[in-house]
Amino acid sequence: MRILAFSGSLRTASSNAATLQAMSILAPPGVDIVLYEGLARLPHFNPDLDRSEAPELLPPQVRELRRQVGLASGLLISSPEYAHGVAGSFKNALDWLVASLEFPGKPVALINTAPRAVHSDAQLREILATMSARVIAGASITAPISGVGRNLDAQAIAADPELSRQLRQALGVFVEAVVAAPE
Ligand SMILES: Cc1cc2nc3c(=O)[nH]c(=O)nc-3n(C[C@H](O)[C@H](O)[C@H](O)COP(=O)(O)O)c2cc1C
Repeated sequence: MRILAFSGSLRTASSNAATLQAMSILAPPGVDIVLYEGLARLPHFNPDLDRSEAPELLPPQVRELRRQVGLASGLLISSPEYAHGVAGSFKNALDWLVASLEFPGKPVALINTAPRAVHSDAQLREILATMSARVIAGASITAPISGVGRNLDAQAIAADPELSRQLRQALGVFVEAVVAAPE
């Protein structure tokens, strides 16, 4: 099973990216978690370039994004909150997926690494529901990883007994949901 993971942060030492890398380490056998690496190179969303009657206008980075989404059985999303909102670069990626054929119905697990980040979490749920994603409730968790004094890398997150328990459990629920109701 191939799962595509989106970190909404462009920071090198991103706690969201580290969390997704930790989930890749913790993934059960047969489950491959691949991080999407193209977020910073996506052009700004422009509906003029996203027209079904003129598919040749679609930027190549967007084609590649959609191809990778299409190849995945499910999506993991972990994105920071900025100014009580969804991180702009990640919202940009979602905007490019709104009219895609690949996204609707896709199972999604939403990982929130910051207990304070309630606004972007709620916004993401609304956006994903509007985009007809299938957000898997039991696999969508708040695992307190970012915040004061917590600069954990992927290895440290995977080695932490409580964090790894939460992430493993979320992954288990996610994989079960994907297997029980494939697209
Ligand atoms: C400009 C800016 C605005 C932020 N606004 C919020 C916020 O509104 N709520 C919050 O919980 N965290 C906020 N944060 C903190 C980040 O979401 C937090 O540091 C997060 O861990 C960053 O993710 P990353 O480690 O993956 O880069 C903000 C950080 C920055 C730089």
